[in-house]
Amino acid sequence: MKVLIVGSGGREHAIAWKVAQSPKVEKIYCAPGNAGIGEIAECVPIGAMEFDKLVAFAKEKEIDLTVIGMDDPLVGGIVDAFEAEGLRVFGPRKNAAILEGSKAFSKDLMKKYHIPTAAYENFNNPEEALAYLETAKMPIVLKADGLALGKGVLICNTLQEAKDGVKELMLDKHFGDAGNTIVIEEFMTGREVSVLSFVDGNTIQIMTSAQDHKRAKDGDQGLNTGGMGTFSPSPFYTAEIDAFCQKYIYQPTVDAMKAEGRPFKGVIFFGLMLTEDGPRVLEYNARFGDPEAQVVLPRMKNDIIDVFEACIDGTLDKIQLDFEENAAVCVVLASDGYPEHYEKGYPIEGLDTFKGKNGYYVFHAGTKLADGKIVTNGGRVLGVTAKGSDLKQARANAYAATEWIQFENKYKRNDIGKAIDEA
Ligand code: AMP
Ligand code: GLY
Repeated sequence: MKVLIVGSGGREHAIAWKVAQSPKVEKIYCAPGNAGIGEIAECVPIGAMEFDKLVAFAKEKEIDLTVIGMDDPLVGGIVDAFEAEGLRVFGPRKNAAILEGSKAFSKDLMKKYHIPTAAYENFNNPEEALAYLETAKMPIVLKADGLALGKGVLICNTLQEAKDGVKELMLDKHFGDAGNTIVIEEFMTGREVSVLSFVDGNTIQIMTSAQDHKRAKDGDQGLNTGGMGTFSPSPFYTAEIDAFCQKYIYQPTVDAMKAEGRPFKGVIFFGLMLTEDGPRVLEYNARFGDPEAQVVLPRMKNDIIDVFEACIDGTLDKIQLDFEENAAVCVVLASDGYPEHYEKGYPIEGLDTFKGKNGYYVFHAGTKLADGKIVTNGGRVLGVTAKGSDLKQARANAYAATEWIQFENKYKRNDIGKAIDEA
């Protein structure tokens, strides 16, 4: 079969790599893709938001299955556009992708269906938000309702910071219309876990757990980023926590979406916080995590095409998801200065070292081909991933492999997976 993948980051490279393992797949296209994806797929220069062009391309090439990696097109209704033309596509429709697209929607859903999450109020009027803050307990969390590249969340320690935050989000519109509505919610503490799942509208099956590192610098300092590294599984995600989440979070979320007339098919990514009072949902995403996919998919034993098809056909209950009993760590190699100002266009050396090495992967995020050479082309450049028999081994392997790669302004965190030592 012919598969089209929509997106251009490390997550899409990991999806493309996993799709390429399937004996059913004869050809992979990726729009727009990147230099690394270009080694296993044919990249086509169509942007992820160019729905008409993507649909026309899928028809012309007789694509059997399209997989949407990114949040923007999902929230914008790309799945509806493909389905309207009778094309098979993996991902939630617009009315279900709202689970990620609107934090106010997702909070209201959780409240209505008693899914554990932080206490909150939604505001679309800055005066009311400011008045509410006067009596609220600090620290407090402000969230832009809409998509803001994972950056529309402000943790405010003082009343003044919170007031400035309301101004930033709602009046100065740092995140554009994403801040027309904001959620103000209770600050929680605990370890964070990412749990990815496959959903077919009725049935949900979770993959394995992972943990991201969102801040730019060691010791969780610096600015929020798209994610600087991940490990999987999380040693803190115990069988007891899993049982709680299965009962009170996962299936209830799928049932709630169905009850609202918004059946969800695709990947639900549960951002959880393990608080003293039990697991709470921090956020939902309607797609694989980046860089969670880079540690989860290499450990997955199933043919991912079978799973994608089961989600589309509503037969996920017939699939037994299976993961290797090992661990994986991904360390992101970024351009120094990310997520603010950084230079790009530097040649990358050492990529060939990964060829033929079992259990080592270099997923490209921001790279491109220039004059036949692969050069840096973004803030996050590569996701160096390695497996190991356990987390410590995987971490040692991943960090060793980061030394195989050289480019001019290479930057990485040195403490990805430090939490493993506390487990
Ligand atoms: P979100 O995009 O909603 O996952 O938020 C981004 C990050 O902000 C999370 O990964 C947490 O580290 C932090 N965060 C979000 N909500 C809360 C909360 N209610 N309490 C504490 N930290 C939070
Ligand atoms: N790694 C977090 C995300 O993909 O949103």
